[in-house]
Amino acid sequence: MAITRISTFAFSGIDPISVEIQVQISRGLPAFTIVGLADKAVTESRERVKAALISMGIALPPKRILINLSPADIIKEGTHYDLPIALGLLVALDIIPEEMLLNYAAVGELSLDGKVSAVNNVISATIGAVSQEKGLICPAIQGSEALLGGDIDILAAPDLLSIIQHFLGKQILTPPKMLQAPNTSHDYDLFDIKGMESAKRALEIAASGGHSMLMIGPPGSGKSMLATRLPSILPDLTAQQSLEVTRIYSAAGLLNGSVPIRQPPFRNPHHSASQVSLTGGGIKVKPGEISLAHHGILFLDEFPEFTKNSLEALRQPLENGKISIARAMNHITFPAKFQLIAAMNPCRCGYMGDTERECHRVPRCGEEYTRKISGPLLDRIDIVTYIEPIPPRDIVSIPNGEKSVKVAKRVKKAREKQFERQNNLNCELNNNQISLSASVTEIVEKASMQLRLSARGITRLLRVALTIADLSEKDEIDISSITEALSYRKRNLL
Ligand SMILES: Nc1ncnc2c1ncn2[C@@H]1O[C@H](COP(=O)(O)OP(=O)(O)OP(=O)(O)O)[C@@H](O)[C@H]1O
Ligand SMILES: [Mg+2]
Repeated sequence: MAITRISTFAFSGIDPISVEIQVQISRGLPAFTIVGLADKAVTESRERVKAALISMGIALPPKRILINLSPADIIKEGTHYDLPIALGLLVALDIIPEEMLLNYAAVGELSLDGKVSAVNNVISATIGAVSQEKGLICPAIQGSEALLGGDIDILAAPDLLSIIQHFLGKQILTPPKMLQAPNTSHDYDLFDIKGMESAKRALEIAASGGHSMLMIGPPGSGKSMLATRLPSILPDLTAQQSLEVTRIYSAAGLLNGSVPIRQPPFRNPHHSASQVSLTGGGIKVKPGEISLAHHGILFLDEFPEFTKNSLEALRQPLENGKISIARAMNHITFPAKFQLIAAMNPCRCGYMGDTERECHRVPRCGEEYTRKISGPLLDRIDIVTYIEPIPPRDIVSIPNGEKSVKVAKRVKKAREKQFERQNNLNCELNNNQISLSASVTEIVEKASMQLRLSARGITRLLRVALTIADLSEKDEIDISSITEALSYRKRNLL
């Protein structure tokens, strides 16, 4: 009995795994069965496929139809199996010649009238098709998205009928065109910020080396204002970074208009966000905020207000740049190399340290508030900066600050220097990759005793010091760079 085979993919995180759809039509009691660890969306695909075929006037024969999704030990989730299942049936029914589909993989959801609608992970499907040296059949509206994964034969089909006509040579589908990302634009500019020179300096260092940063300051001192201006001083993503980020957004179903993402993402989840929405996961596994911030910024405003579990879940990705989500039968990994920018008040009332305004519960008020930020999490924060609000009477008289484009140029130069030297940012360096002079070593040793720095703390200190040296175009860490870096490692209010 002949078996028809069509290629498609399952996705583990954003990685494609080859799946073969096997279709067998045999004599027996009429039935239509899908086997091979299919979830509910996949088993429901039976009804959509039947309806789509009927809409074209094709009725399934009263026979035993068996669909196997192989390998059968991988969980199959999602609606993108509709199209390959329908194509398998069309071949089994001798409507499309089998050899026509040998060189294609397919993904797409079917609606009841036979239209092919959008699915997640199309770019990753192209990457899978490239490795199999095949073309890809995908929804028409995702043709340009599919092209981002590789320059292969893409058939972007609006409906099932158009695929049949294409393979029968009646009406050839036009190849999709690559769409270009819009020009970079930013809503906010550093120009708006008056004064706050030391906070802006810390922001520039964080941007240059990709360092995590925590801003502590009273209400209205400009913490959120600073953080939202960070994107305006960051360079665009490299082609490789852009592909990774765009694939994650495609996996989350958040890719707007099929254009590649060129700017570092800025994610700003509210502190009421659940741990799953931050890390990813859920019944249908989706990337969380930390993955959506891959190669960009995760801004956590009101840092201690996040749940303790959410904050602790950041520890693993902050260290290794990815998140592993445990499921019943396997682990799913998403990339999560983000720059953490956090902001908080020093205490619940917000004014600890301001003798005129602080509440009577100081310092207990502050201790209770900051308790949620554990030692290990704090250890992973490279730069802690205390924001001094500018006096209200100065807000009008002080002139505006430097424009973001000017700062962005310095950041770009410092980043280029890092890529030339070590092919990544300073935030990814190991201890042994940073050389130190004898005098700097002495300062580091002394400071590590005084501040009781951990081994990780020292590595992170040296990374920041190197970024400071890079910004001032020095070839190695000197005394002023290490002294400035040390000032960002003091945690006196925490
Ligand atoms: N240095 C400054 N230059 C210009 N405007 C400022 C400055 N600092 C604060 N502001 C003004 O104050 C507003 C409040 O600042 P922002 O929201 O950033 O404070 P915050 O530190 O995040 O406060 P909170 O702790 O309450 O969240 C800004 O939107 C801006 O209008
Ligand atoms: Mg704020």
